[in-house]
Amino acid sequence: MDTHGGSGRAGAPGRKKSKKVCVVGASGKLGRYMIRHALDRGYEVVGVCREQSVGKLEEFAGRITILPGATNDREVIRRAVADCDGVLTVLVPWGIRQYSTGTAQAVLDYAPEGARLVFSCGWHITRDGKDVYGLKLRTIVKLFGPLARLARIADLDDQVEACRRVFASGTRWTVVRGSDLEEGESQGLPVWSRHVGDPILKSNLTRRVDFALFMVEALVNDELVGEAPAIVGRQTPSARAHARSAA
Ligand SMILES: NC(=O)c1ccc[n+]([C@@H]2O[C@H](COP(=O)([O-])OP(=O)(O)OC[C@H]3O[C@@H](n4cnc5c(N)ncnc54)[C@H](OP(=O)(O)O)[C@@H]3O)[C@@H](O)[C@H]2O)c1
Repeated sequence: MDTHGGSGRAGAPGRKKSKKVCVVGASGKLGRYMIRHALDRGYEVVGVCREQSVGKLEEFAGRITILPGATNDREVIRRAVADCDGVLTVLVPWGIRQYSTGTAQAVLDYAPEGARLVFSCGWHITRDGKDVYGLKLRTIVKLFGPLARLARIADLDDQVEACRRVFASGTRWTVVRGSDLEEGESQGLPVWSRHVGDPILKSNLTRRVDFALFMVEALVNDELVGEAPAIVGRQTPSARAHARSAA
């Protein structure tokens, strides 16, 4: 097992400060939490969201630059990520027109060389096939996947393909794999492991605000370059049990 506590402290070795970050998928719940964390850290923020969702970013008026457009619109992404030190991308499986894949590919193609690229997805994404999934997740993927595709609502394979391209890219990527999510106050930086099925992840729950925190902290954590951390809330029973046994 390979698990990680994450300190969340600023100024630790191997961390470098980014100045300008782009949030792709800025108007969703995760996107808005990421904007708040990024502004708290003094970053200049550019957000991309669908035209009809610009109103959801009202609270940030005057503090961020918004580029309205589909996140798989290559021209919008090209302009949004120009000069960015980091790009935080929310990958969603909605629709059946390769929305995730188009979004990821545009970010990979246009982000400046050397930029930190951090992508979000769920535990169902596997990097090396060594994840061990419980019955609940296997059932959701097996049932929801084909049904959602049939109803033309979502395509889980699209998110899989998007991540495959990220893994294969020569960029400075991190793919953050979220557990089940809940709302609520921050419990601090989530802990992570390389493989779903590791005991530390057993509780399978993270506060959404902390998922966003992990994404934003990853911008300056070089240990996460080329990693696909599966995360879980640091106050969950499984994370606490792991911390006790490690101590
Ligand atoms: N929900 C979970 O339980 C869960 C669990 C593990 C991991 N994750 C991961 O966490 C990330 C955030 O997911 P979330 O569920 O919490 O949602 P979220 O943060 O609210 O984000 C949803 C995003 O999807 C966009 N969207 C919604 N409908 C769309 C459509 N028809 N076409 C294109 N884009 C559409 C939204 O844009 P608008 O604002 O324009 O609608 C928004 O950017 C994702 O990467 C997801 O895979 C989620």
